[in-house]
Amino acid sequence: MNFLRTPPLPACSGGALLAVLMLVASSCYYPRSKPGWEYMPDMAHGTAYETYGVNPHFPDSMASRPTVPGTIPRGPYMPFHFSKTPEGYDSAGKYLFMPAGMDTQDLSAGKHHYTIYCAVCHGSGGKANGSIVENPNVVNPYPPPPSYFREDILNLPEGKMFYSIHYGKNLMGAYGKVLNPEEIWQVVFYVKNMQKHYLDSVQAAAAAQSATASNPQR
Ligand code: HEC
Repeated sequence: MNFLRTPPLPACSGGALLAVLMLVASSCYYPRSKPGWEYMPDMAHGTAYETYGVNPHFPDSMASRPTVPGTIPRGPYMPFHFSKTPEGYDSAGKYLFMPAGMDTQDLSAGKHHYTIYCAVCHGSGGKANGSIVENPNVVNPYPPPPSYFREDILNLPEGKMFYSIHYGKNLMGAYGKVLNPEEIWQVVFYVKNMQKHYLDSVQAAAAAQSATASNPQR
């Protein structure tokens, strides 16, 4: 009985084994110029969206997402506790004050921010004659803001000034997201300084006039 005898290996089995080994070995070879097939490329390579591009997965289609409500940013951007209401404006006037110890460095920083963000409307000297307000080349000039030397703006409390720069006011845009509180104070300091110089010059002129009036021969 031959049944239990192991059958002889077929003649081709050696060749088949070699072919399988070659296939296995060659599958490890991968020339960079010709990458292999990918069966689920989306899983290997997620779709990248441009930061400010369109992303259809969000209802507003903006790839850049707003922060979660109530987020408190780290660093110099602190929450502003005066509400955007007439009452908030009034209480800022009463309870919001410039930090103590503002110095000449703050003044020059204030001038720097002012020149970049404010002078186009308010004018470099604060006389409401900025380049988009008073400019013969501008076809549709911007309505002039108040001069900083108008009675009510001269008397505007620094807290209200901060408030209006932070939230904006009517035709003036909000700068609360552009300038941090320290920078806003530097700008307020610079504007108040312009006003002080103006008041000093008015006072000096008045004094000179009264001196001439009391001594007309000179
Ligand atoms: C696009 C023009 C424009 C720019 C830029 C601008 N302002 Fe104004 N600003 C105005 C106008 C207009 C008003 C008058 C708002 C009102 O009372 O209706 C105003 C009002 C103000 C007031 C008075 C606010 C109040 O409470 O009555 C201050 C102070 C002021 N601006 C400072 C600044 C500073 C500082 C900057 C720069 C950070 C700036 N503005 C940038 C147009 C501008």
